Amino acid sequence: MYYETIPSLNDAQKRQQQFRGWSRAKKKAIIKQNFHKLQLLSQCQNMSHSKYKDFDSAQSSSSPQQSSVAKSPSAPLRVGILGGGQLGRMLLQAAANYVVETFVLENDEHCPAAHLCHHFIKGDIKDFETVYNFGKNLDAVTIEIEAVNIEALEKLESEGLKVYPKPSAIKTIKNKIRQKEFYASNQIPSPEFIITENIEALKKNAGFLPAVHKIGEGGYDGKGVQVLRDESKIAKAFDAPSVLEKMVDIQKEIAVIVAMNNKKETAVYPATEMVFNPELNLLDYQISPAELSSTIVEEAKQISLQLVKSFDSPGLFAIEMFVDKNNKVLVNETAPRVHNSGHHTIEANYCSQYDMLWRIMLGYPLGNTEAILPSSIVNLLGEEGYSGPAKYNGLDEVLSMKNIFVHLYGKTQTKPGRKMGHVTIMSADRNDLIEKVNRIKECLKVVS
Ligand SMILES: Nc1ncnc2c1ncn2[C@@H]1O[C@H](COP(=O)(O)OP(=O)(O)OP(=O)(O)O)[C@@H](O)[C@H]1O
Ligand SMILES: [Mg+2]
Repeated sequence: MYYETIPSLNDAQKRQQQFRGWSRAKKKAIIKQNFHKLQLLSQCQNMSHSKYKDFDSAQSSSSPQQSSVAKSPSAPLRVGILGGGQLGRMLLQAAANYVVETFVLENDEHCPAAHLCHHFIKGDIKDFETVYNFGKNLDAVTIEIEAVNIEALEKLESEGLKVYPKPSAIKTIKNKIRQKEFYASNQIPSPEFIITENIEALKKNAGFLPAVHKIGEGGYDGKGVQVLRDESKIAKAFDAPSVLEKMVDIQKEIAVIVAMNNKKETAVYPATEMVFNPELNLLDYQISPAELSSTIVEEAKQISLQLVKSFDSPGLFAIEMFVDKNNKVLVNETAPRVHNSGHHTIEANYCSQYDMLWRIMLGYPLGNTEAILPSSIVNLLGEEGYSGPAKYNGLDEVLSMKNIFVHLYGKTQTKPGRKMGHVTIMSADRNDLIEKVNRIKECLKVVS
């Protein structure tokens, strides 16, 4: 095939040069065989693909779902992922077990997912035209990050494209104000909150403190969250529409992943516990299943199911929750996609979260969410003080340990706090898990 993949803009430009040198008959023949790939090439260059349509008007009338490259019943489904980070990478690793043609849209051609997909398209996932052009020739699209162009997804959905999850769910979740209002109107227990439009409004509500201020849009990895213990901290708050949420006296932070297919069947993973380092206020490690009473486990499961049913969307959802000091379960936030809190499911559960999402998108039965063994995750973050080409000190020692699984995300450059990989540890003995967590954290360092 001439247009096998389009790895970069340079490559696409070189191929187009070559294309210009051909005779009209040769161009016509190639276009006939490769129409959808040419459309991708034109998207790659941010051009309308209509210039290619001139060669054969019959092609131009074909709608995206009945592309001129007529799909035989056995042809693989074409599924796109918006975003090319580590979550996309692990999703693609699971895709390799199925018959599916994969596409990734992402601005950075050196991103973790770029080399594991069949077709990499360089482009901005926040741009309407780019997302629309990316999706219009595919059978289904999913996301690995919420910061995507919703309007394009809505248009694609209205034209028949399957979007996992539904754009309406992404739209609700993407904005923390809308998300909190959704919980309130669907009777999902969540910390009490008010909405503040700006700092002035926040000052008028100082009586609501201690609270946590969360910016409506644009926050990620804790960057859109400020703890306001008292009025003296108000200067740190966001001068933009935000949620002001009552401070919860947290006993544990947990996450539950729920899968829902097109038939509205559901599967729930055992809860994962996020263990924080109280001195650094950073996630220390994750352990699954979470150590909780069966009553709390059941309550967290029922709340998560009720929430996903309220979204009324197929897909995979990770629900982050607090268990407070009175054993009350409260939803903190939801991610409408594969999630950090489910990395361990690759090795530690019969069906991983990534495999589960493919089963949903390809129309196969849901998988078994049970844990094979208890497990822990250590995240590998770039060490403080190091920026540049990544080196992994202590990798040999970690790889010599029993029942550990190393995942490096293929990011060539490290910087302080950057997520560079993770290690999964499996053991029937929780003490053994924690002992290995500490050993790995001591010896494995990402430096430059
Ligand atoms: N109401 C609250 N009471 C106490 N602590 C809170 C509250 N809300 C958030 N936190 C703390 O702040 C952390 C980050 O909050 P949240 O999950 O809402 O933000 P985020 O930007 O999505 O961060 P991340 O991407 O790291 O999950 C929580 O994991 C929790 O430790
Ligand atoms: Mg969070």
